[in-house]
Amino acid sequence: MSAVTIRRQRVEWVVAADRSHLHELAANVILDVLRNTERPVFGFATGGTPLGLYEQLVRRSLENPRLLTRWQDVTGFNLDEYVGLSPEHPQSYHHYMWRYVYRYLPVRPDRMFIPKGIGNLEDNCRSYDESLMKYGWPDVQILGIGKNGHIGFNEPARRLAMNTHVTRLSESTRLANARFFPSARDVPEQAITMGMAGILRAKQIVLLAFGEAKRDALIRAFSGWLGTDVPASLLQLHPHVTVFTDQDIFGDLS
Ligand code: PGA
Repeated sequence: MSAVTIRRQRVEWVVAADRSHLHELAANVILDVLRNTERPVFGFATGGTPLGLYEQLVRRSLENPRLLTRWQDVTGFNLDEYVGLSPEHPQSYHHYMWRYVYRYLPVRPDRMFIPKGIGNLEDNCRSYDESLMKYGWPDVQILGIGKNGHIGFNEPARRLAMNTHVTRLSESTRLANARFFPSARDVPEQAITMGMAGILRAKQIVLLAFGEAKRDALIRAFSGWLGTDVPASLLQLHPHVTVFTDQDIFGDLS
């Protein structure tokens, strides 16, 4: 089980064939911040990719009582939520976070922020940004990447929004996420997502990208070009990004 670490321009790449090893290495980053930060703020992602990371965070915290109590001081911000799904809906990201992460840890429910996809959406966006301003931007932001280069639900577009906003999901995203729903038709058409500023203001970014399906998005995101057609390409402006991936794409980067 080995991983290669490569620094290319400002981005650090941790490349390994074994995904569970990558999850373990990414968990080390989060747990270091948990140990060494007085009031850690974590930016959480959902989807299939980070599940193994959350499993590691939970297991290693439960094994270590001192680490476990550190979660009492954590503030969490999730990237996004589907519009129209109540927090109790099994496919909502509220449900995901409580099912896979929060129920195992002594977190404060009032400090675990997840955008609300029901009710007055404009108010929900505004109050989300107010909470980010109040508690601080994440010390570490966990990210996945869409096949189309999205981060959070910031989809490729002519313009990208800075702040938390309502967005229309692209067909590619709805198709990719159909696997979690009874059918593609059941995937909501809209979502609330943290904007690009929220993501780029994190002190550190941990991006997880696994499988052939993400290869092209990674190449386009880290090609040296910036474009709103590949939202993840803006990560190249961030001073502290680590990509954990099983794809060796260096031959394809110009
Ligand atoms: P996935 O989603 O982890 O389910 O592939 C990643 C994303 O869309 O950002």
